[in-house]
Amino acid sequence: LDGNNLRVWKYADLLPVKIKPISLNEGGTPLFRAEYLERELNIHRIYVKHEGLNPSGSFKDRGMTVGVTKAIELGKKAVACASTGNTSASLAMYAAKANLKAYVLLPAGKVALGKVAQALMHNAKVIGIKGNFDKALELVREISRQENFYLLNSVNPFRLEGQKTIAFEIVDELGYVPDRVILPVGNAGNISAIYKGFRELKTLGLIDSIPKMTGIQAKGANPIYRAFVESKKVIEPVTPETIATAIRIGNPVNARKALNAIYESNGLAEEVSDEEIISAQKILAGKEGIGVEPASAASVAGLIKLAGREIDVDETVVCITTGHLLKDPEAVIRACGSPIEVPADIESIKSVL
Ligand code: F0G
Repeated sequence: LDGNNLRVWKYADLLPVKIKPISLNEGGTPLFRAEYLERELNIHRIYVKHEGLNPSGSFKDRGMTVGVTKAIELGKKAVACASTGNTSASLAMYAAKANLKAYVLLPAGKVALGKVAQALMHNAKVIGIKGNFDKALELVREISRQENFYLLNSVNPFRLEGQKTIAFEIVDELGYVPDRVILPVGNAGNISAIYKGFRELKTLGLIDSIPKMTGIQAKGANPIYRAFVESKKVIEPVTPETIATAIRIGNPVNARKALNAIYESNGLAEEVSDEEIISAQKILAGKEGIGVEPASAASVAGLIKLAGREIDVDETVVCITTGHLLKDPEAVIRACGSPIEVPADIESIKSVL
């Protein structure tokens, strides 16, 4: 490994890989103090872990560096995934680095532009289907079996092994265990992975508590929230619809693991509306200087909704923002409008200042 490449792979001893990793310097993302939100919500310590600052612009890179390395270790020639966008961008990038063929199935017309652009330019075979993510996942699982593609959705345990390093970094960066971790939930892999990371640290005797795992779903794609409010351990699938296309998922494959993480950690699930998501996205960008895509803002929308109800003043809260603002420029223009245009003279510019 390069000397400066000790981010995800700083934790190599806890990652199940034997060969030199396929790495693009992923992980090591900053933990920002959210001072505006602390004041507004009257919570003493709020941090934002900005996973949008990974090489492809989302947390998926932590999983892909491990998953694609595993593909090489197993002698695979091609990798595949279904995706709401970020997984496909990350898969394409790491497959390019590893010289593997990459195939991605996307819900046609429902993936943010930046993510499709990444998958295409990093040389994946990009196929849109007339169906949602859940259907795409069902299809890619079958095709991968038939064509011997190495499937890198979060049904692949090695993906989740990489993503658990978010937990390790939080503890390393803070120097202690936060009371709560809040994150958006779609296919429910990440919340399961991060919980596993904390549990491993506890098993190793390195920490003695686990944060309350707090999963936030979009109102239009909320099967885990629904199961949680009914104290159930299994979900009933929904037909998903939300502006946060990254988490537009109705039948999350890791639902059982996610619910387990929530119940065992004494956490909770919450739902937020598209309006609450966009409002949180604007606050993060405009008040904290943290640019995230809509799905990522769901974590902060959840924080705002839970503050003063479920979250105490003296809790230390870490919100995970999973993807970068630039992933979904079209959502930004819809939320903010296009720039104003004026004639090229000083007076006209001054008139709109
Ligand atoms: N946030 C972003 C930006 C995502 O892209 C995803 C998932 C999530 C949150 C939810 O994570 O699925 O582990 O619960 N995106 C997947 C994809 C589904 O295909 O890119 P999860």
